[in-house]
Amino acid sequence: MPLDVLSSNLDDVRRYGLTRLDLSTRAVARVDTSEFLRHFDGPDSLLPQMLHGVAAGRWALHAFYPANDQVIADIGIVIPASIARDAKFRLLLNGQTELDRIEHRDRVFSYSHWFMPAGHVRGFRSVFAPNALGDWARLSIVFDEPYSGLNRHFRDVWNYAHSGMLGGLPDVARIHRVASPNANQPSFLNGGKTAFENLCGIAKEFGVEVRNGAKSVLDWGVGCGRLVRHFNKETDARVTGIDIDSDNVAWCNANLRGTFHTVGLHPPTELPDAAFDLIYACSVLSHLTEPDADAWLAEIARVLAPGGLALLSFHGTSNSISYLSRRPSELRRVLAGGFFDKDVSNDLKGFIPSDEYYRQSFSTDIWWRRTFEKHFEMAAVEVSVLSGFQHIAVLRKK
Ligand SMILES: C[S@@+](CC[C@H](N)C(=O)[O-])C[C@H]1O[C@@H](n2cnc3c(N)ncnc32)[C@H](O)[C@@H]1O
Repeated sequence: MPLDVLSSNLDDVRRYGLTRLDLSTRAVARVDTSEFLRHFDGPDSLLPQMLHGVAAGRWALHAFYPANDQVIADIGIVIPASIARDAKFRLLLNGQTELDRIEHRDRVFSYSHWFMPAGHVRGFRSVFAPNALGDWARLSIVFDEPYSGLNRHFRDVWNYAHSGMLGGLPDVARIHRVASPNANQPSFLNGGKTAFENLCGIAKEFGVEVRNGAKSVLDWGVGCGRLVRHFNKETDARVTGIDIDSDNVAWCNANLRGTFHTVGLHPPTELPDAAFDLIYACSVLSHLTEPDADAWLAEIARVLAPGGLALLSFHGTSNSISYLSRRPSELRRVLAGGFFDKDVSNDLKGFIPSDEYYRQSFSTDIWWRRTFEKHFEMAAVEVSVLSGFQHIAVLRKK
């Protein structure tokens, strides 16, 4: 069985072993199964921790399109191991219930959550009446009793409804640099709107109203303005954006409303003390080494106003488990309190003055909590908010 298509059935691995396909050479290499299984067999198995550590809230809208006078939504969802695998939930489109639904095993989440028991990774194709569409399609997952407590964790997702909304977006190369090679202009627009709405909702819950009233907002790691474009459209906020990628900063200054600055790889910045009512960072801490994350948190704490909020996304326990599920030695180290930052990313190569700085970084929620609490008063961790898998730390000035 190739490691790349590992299923949840460890018996198959025991029986047939594992192979890994090297995508560059197409060569198939045999994986040492005994080393792999050592982490999943016996009393010291990682599986219980993995099952326990997958947070609620992981779901995704894979596709959304009109077909035959109907609207179709393809969804994947991971049901936490702590609840019944056939827990009932509905999908709503702008508040309207599905007309019909076909269920299947979701392929995307089956890959990243291969260790989940059958029935806990589900996919379905939902059919809606077309009159449910406005400018934006808002999709909501609603669990029935006794699981309605989960509803606040499964955050709504927004999808644009008309191609006319795709104007003025950055080119695809820029989008790939700040998102993934699979990203495109529609996913950039949808992801930005979804992140913007969910951050506004969280900020409001914690006492900062973004939509009404000109707030001074800092986007740390602004990229090419995935969220700023929605702040520009829907709020009066005075936006400042900072990034280490001067080329994207120039794009923001030319195309968005706000003030955008290039900053060095290491703080301090020239931003004034206590200047911002709301600071957010989407997928920035998830790319820094441990010392860089710590140094930047001190800087962000310095520029946050008393009474303000910082909403910072990070890769916590749940996402460490899915990202490292095929690298059990690394995962074991992280779950024991370590920090993983070995995967250097080439995404910013040629755009920042170091090929080593930008990484994929992961640790447990407890590790992150301890680190945040050195610099901030911690109000909450909201799970699976950004892109359905990064948690958001809700932080106040100490
Ligand atoms: C994954 S991208 C996300 C961009 C944007 N926040 C978004 O959601 O589309 C991470 C961004 O953080 C920037 N970045 C990385 N480290 C940074 C740092 N220490 N200070 C400011 N920006 C940083 C990168 O250049 C990149 O634009």
